[in-house]
Amino acid sequence: MNPPIDPKIVKQEIDAMGLESVGMASIRELNRIVNNIETASREKFIRMEMGVPGLDPPQIAVNSEIEALKKGVGSKYPPFDGIPELKTEISGFVKNYLDKEINPISCFPTVGSMQGCFMAMMCTTRRMRGKDKILFIDPGFPVNKNQARVLGVPFENFDVYEYRGEKLRGKLESYLKQGDVAAIMYSNPNNPAWICFTDTELEIIGDLATRYDCIVLEDLAYFGMDFRMDYSAPGQPPFIPTVARYTENYILLISSSKSFSLAGQRIGMTAIPDSLFNSEGDNLRPWFNTDNFGYAYIFGAMYALSSGVSHSNQYGLLGLLKAVNRGEYNFVEEVKEYGDRARAMKKYFTDNGFHIVYDMDDGQKIADGFYFTISYPGFTGVELVEELLYYGISAISLTTTGSDRHEGLRACVSQTGKDRFPDLEQRLVRFREDHPKGSDFKIIHS
Ligand SMILES: Cc1ncc(COP(=O)(O)O)c(C=O)c1O
Repeated sequence: MNPPIDPKIVKQEIDAMGLESVGMASIRELNRIVNNIETASREKFIRMEMGVPGLDPPQIAVNSEIEALKKGVGSKYPPFDGIPELKTEISGFVKNYLDKEINPISCFPTVGSMQGCFMAMMCTTRRMRGKDKILFIDPGFPVNKNQARVLGVPFENFDVYEYRGEKLRGKLESYLKQGDVAAIMYSNPNNPAWICFTDTELEIIGDLATRYDCIVLEDLAYFGMDFRMDYSAPGQPPFIPTVARYTENYILLISSSKSFSLAGQRIGMTAIPDSLFNSEGDNLRPWFNTDNFGYAYIFGAMYALSSGVSHSNQYGLLGLLKAVNRGEYNFVEEVKEYGDRARAMKKYFTDNGFHIVYDMDDGQKIADGFYFTISYPGFTGVELVEELLYYGISAISLTTTGSDRHEGLRACVSQTGKDRFPDLEQRLVRFREDHPKGSDFKIIHS
């Protein structure tokens, strides 16, 4: 056994971080450990632990922001709910790609969709008396649960793996029947599993949200990135699947980070249908001094949190959205690269004894996208995280995502260009040689 990274260095850096278990480390903790191992060993890892875009930001967004800065917007407070032109373009974007009409008044930028998620949790769990709980359809983005904890909001979760298709109805209803669920949250496409809900499933979620008066928080962090379909033409079918087709009880949380490669700018979008935005809640007043949901959102939550999004940044997104909405910039085409990488990388893993954990979308093969999930016989996910570190590969355990598939890891393709594929393949071949199926020799810490 001769792993490519010196085991002494790996163990030393794991110990130096003082974590109870490296396999249960958060994304950012693992990121730090891998940086430290890379520095100490002078070996470059195949970095699959963190979902950061691996592509350049669109020049049109960069130029629009520079222009705005030069014009002096930096000295002026932006409106809390966004500059009017941007609100109109967000509304147009939602119409063009989801085929939903939402008034620009209730379309606004947020500081990353992360802030959008936070505000949505804050407002939906304080909307109706007796309804304060969030139900996460997992696996999910671990940070969303941190947000619920920070807010002091109770939550429940279940792994959807065994409840695809019609089976979802009974499972969801078993929670909603309790009457205290304020919001249902999921990401679609899903981080970490890259599951994409079918229309049948979205219809079930929408129906039940209406019936039980709870709000669906639809996190579209990977907007348009199910590359099995071509969603790239504005205003033309096929439109991106959304729960918005099946209920008016929803909030759309759209990120610019991955679809537009603008993660560093921290700008996302929220869109709330008019009926919900203009509705009243009997539990809002103690928190927001109003009964009106939209008013609470903007003059309560947004005011208190960041009082809007940086002014120049809004102009950057505006420039980009104008080009996207007019069909002058094909954002889907720009990020398709991730799907190509996933296809190739999954094959290196499966050729070397790994399995894809979440492999199907209710009967259809799962798409190739930003993430995929892997396991290796004889290893738990927590063990596999550490064992792969000795082979210069980093990924996070699915256990940290609310998944019941404790054997699995989430692998992100964004940091691995084609130039690293030979390294990935060699390391996986070595891993397989060192771990022939059935014999479970492990280097990991005891
Ligand atoms: C499911 C999900 N939601 C939200 C976010 C955060 O997006 P943003 O960078 O726009 O804050 C991410 C980013 O990784 C994500 O995966």
